[in-house]
Amino acid sequence: MKGIILAGGSGSRLSPSTDSINKHLLAVYDKPMIYYPLSVLMLGGMKDIMIISTPEDKPRFEALLGDGSSLGITLTYSEQKDPNGIPEALTLSEDFVGDDDVTLILGDNIFYGQGFTTLLRNAIKHHKYATIFGYRVKDPRRFGVVEFDHRQKAITLEEKPNDPRSDFAVTGLYIYDNQAVKLAKKLKPSARGELEITDLNRAYLKRGQLDVELLGRGFAWMDAGTHESLFDAAEFVKITQQRQGFKLACLEEIAYYLGYISREALYNKGKSMEKNDYGTYLLEIADRKHTQQYWDSIDRNPMLGLVE
Ligand code: G1P
Repeated sequence: MKGIILAGGSGSRLSPSTDSINKHLLAVYDKPMIYYPLSVLMLGGMKDIMIISTPEDKPRFEALLGDGSSLGITLTYSEQKDPNGIPEALTLSEDFVGDDDVTLILGDNIFYGQGFTTLLRNAIKHHKYATIFGYRVKDPRRFGVVEFDHRQKAITLEEKPNDPRSDFAVTGLYIYDNQAVKLAKKLKPSARGELEITDLNRAYLKRGQLDVELLGRGFAWMDAGTHESLFDAAEFVKITQQRQGFKLACLEEIAYYLGYISREALYNKGKSMEKNDYGTYLLEIADRKHTQQYWDSIDRNPMLGLVE
């Protein structure tokens, strides 16, 4: 399974904050936005991940995350020259995907909740064709919307409908089999001139090959694409972190718990930034006694949300 993060777009909804920097590099409280979707792919078990951004911003992502080796993963980068829509991420990454299946996540999507890692890993393990994730929202008109029957089978999918048929938004996390690249190539631009991910999902739906996983009320899903939602997301991260003392989307911590990097590497990274809270946090985790307490706790590993 390959992973793709789409971090392109013009970010016009966040202008002027995004006039000279890519939206996905803006901070969501204490770390860049892209850390959150990257953490999701890492927790899902992906080690081979492509980040797609604009030609101007690609070097900035490379400067931030490098080749991924400091996290024990492999990161490659590609360019989306114009904001032609989400499915283009799949055609642009055709060579990277090769014969594999692929999980695509949008760079402004934040997921949090007990058991999320297990849910995602199970969805990846059991998926056959395409799996999307539904989440109840107050204003579904802002999103792709999925309507499903009493057996939780999708019936319709609509992109930003004026009159939504359900309250369930389609989140920006998609698991696809290898057909996705071929199907994405056949899509035509919508009225707003973009290829729509909803049209790709509809192609799977027509074939009877679309599964929907619902994220219940115990989950938080946010996109951070507007000033309001970015502020809300930052506030959520701040409150959650301050209460429990666990950081959300701390990539080095995840890499350490997954066994990708050594305690020494974690310690050195923490030491290199010990003057700030992120660095102190890494040093805390690198302290074996502290870490052991996490492993021994009831939830085995609350940080990763691995519920057995
Ligand atoms: C995109 C998709 C939409 C999905 C949303 C999730 O919308 O087109 O179907 O619900 O992401 O974040 P956008 O944020 O590009 O308007």
